[in-house]
Amino acid sequence: MGIEIIGIGSYLPEQVLTNVDLEKIVDTSDDWITQRTGIKERRIADKNQATSDLAIKAAKRAIKKAKISPEEIDAIIVATITPDMFFPSTACFVQKGIGASNATAFDISAACSGFIYALGIARDFIRNNSYKTVMVIGAETLSKITDWQDRSICVLLGDGAGAVILRNTNSNSDIMSVHLGADGNYHDLLSIPGGGSRNPATHKTVDDRLHYMKMEGNKVFKLAVKSMADAAKKAIQMAGITCEDVKLIIPHQANIRIIEAVAKHLNVPMEKVFLNIQKYGNTSAATTPIALEEAIYEGKIKKGDIVLLVAFGGGLTWGATVIKL
Ligand code: ACO
Repeated sequence: MGIEIIGIGSYLPEQVLTNVDLEKIVDTSDDWITQRTGIKERRIADKNQATSDLAIKAAKRAIKKAKISPEEIDAIIVATITPDMFFPSTACFVQKGIGASNATAFDISAACSGFIYALGIARDFIRNNSYKTVMVIGAETLSKITDWQDRSICVLLGDGAGAVILRNTNSNSDIMSVHLGADGNYHDLLSIPGGGSRNPATHKTVDDRLHYMKMEGNKVFKLAVKSMADAAKKAIQMAGITCEDVKLIIPHQANIRIIEAVAKHLNVPMEKVFLNIQKYGNTSAATTPIALEEAIYEGKIKKGDIVLLVAFGGGLTWGATVIKL
């Protein structure tokens, strides 16, 4: 028995924030952002939209594509670092919002690698016969944890959500491998220092802007290239295939220079690598499902093709998965 993606959907908020718009907010330029990151614009959620609102829209599209009823979903896993609240989980809001009354629901936290982590959990749930139909969502409203005074970060991030529904199949479709990794020694390279139990919210933590994402960009850059290249190689090896068998590589969309360096490590041409970073920037856990949906929609991949998803993120965490569609 294999595992098949029976439905996929994504949602991007309507508001577009271009690099030129950002020039009016911080000391930056379209040229700098384009050359250093590959990003031209990103989507920003409405001030009344929480992460679950984006996730619900993506989930409803996936349900429609899968042609199932929400009651058939047995489990919902949401990967996010921008939950609606500390608790209840964003997945519980999604469960209510889509009417998946028979589903268990929980969130996982692995930053930009979160969708691949969640996909690994879903695969094992299905393989172990714990659950039959599992929805996996990557959803973020990073604009809500972005310091719009910090030019080194605010130009990178955007909002969005992507959802897939997985189920057992007798066809050749499968999640052929999942490789996950983490190194907590680098916890301070990417974090939100304030508001948690280490540093609970006070007037001072707010004044010090500790509730926004902080990052050491240069260090993250180098580790991202190495961890993504290594994870991709491991997932390919675990799947028992070679890079030539992969039709399309869908990498986490953090920086075009990171993606180009990973492609070089893997010895694959950029034509084989999917990019939508120019339109959406880094939407953390949402980037890979959004890109997967777009690649299918654009006809770049179809049933029977093998795709590789690979990501890295805060933690540090990394993950890669080989999927036969
Ligand atoms: N506009 C103009 N200039 C800028 C900007 C900006 N937005 N940001 C930084 N600069 C300046 C710096 O101040 C610096 O100036 P200086 O030389 O006078 O000191 C210069 O540009 C170069 O800065 P660097 O940080 O060395 O630039 P770099 O080429 O490393 O690019 C970047 C920075 C884009 C952040 C890169 O390091 C990167 O992409 N890192 C990885 C980020 C990432 O993927 N993070 C994941 C986060 S999301 C998550 O995990 C949830």
